[in-house]
Amino acid sequence: MKIKLNPKSQIVVLTGAGVSAESGLKTFRDNNGLWENHRVEDVATPEAFRQFPELVWKFYKDRYFQLAQVKPNPAHVALVELENFLGDNFNLITQNVDGLHFKAGNKNVIEMHGSLYECFCSDCNNRFLMKDIDLDLEIPVCSKCRGYLRPDIVWFGEIPYHLNRIQQIMSKLDLFLVIGTSGIVYPAAQLLPIAKSCGAHTVGINLEEPANLLYLDDFYKGLSGEILPDLVKQWIGKV
Ligand code: OAD
Repeated sequence: MKIKLNPKSQIVVLTGAGVSAESGLKTFRDNNGLWENHRVEDVATPEAFRQFPELVWKFYKDRYFQLAQVKPNPAHVALVELENFLGDNFNLITQNVDGLHFKAGNKNVIEMHGSLYECFCSDCNNRFLMKDIDLDLEIPVCSKCRGYLRPDIVWFGEIPYHLNRIQQIMSKLDLFLVIGTSGIVYPAAQLLPIAKSCGAHTVGINLEEPANLLYLDDFYKGLSGEILPDLVKQWIGKV
């Protein structure tokens, strides 16, 4: 369908690991189900952290250090262009913890699975920026209570962040755009059917068909860094 937006159009975008793939970050399920050679349950659950805190910290420290080398790609930049056009009528929900949407310049970003740039104490909940803690320690400790710090990542079995805010922005939207996510991790995967049931037009961009494809009105198969910039230009009337 041909879409034309005006600055009053209400848009919610949901992104997953695929939007950062062209920046050089691995997606979660592209390597026989292994994420950077680890099974997700070995590094992304509270049980893993209780049993093997050194391994879990090593994994996330590597991910954190990797961020210094990566830059936003044309898909991230196109989303900034969209936000510049729509202002507060643009909301971006991301499952990514890489901070690349902020780095690109987006402002209305909800990081529902946390952020690699932060951590908190597993005893007293005090929060810290990764850049302010001693990452030379195998298990960094809280400067307030000496408890173990943990990365601020929502692990499997934990409740995603900002669900109230997400519910609020999902209650008024004209267009829902979902990019680079396999559509199998809940509750994020539920947002597309919710948008559809609210009467929004739904658009997806993904390298392969996502699990919740049937809720998409328009589906573009391919690289988001190639598809999204042109799509945004059409939508905001720049071509
Ligand atoms: P997945 O790895 O499950 O899915 C990434 C999707 O992006 C796949 O369907 C790919 O085909 C697609 N893809 C890859 N490169 C692409 C590109 N250049 N352009 C467009 N699409 C591309 O990642 P998520 O769906 O984000 O949770 O995973 C959801 C959650 O599960 C993650 O947030 C993470 C994970 O375990 C936590 O860490 C809590």
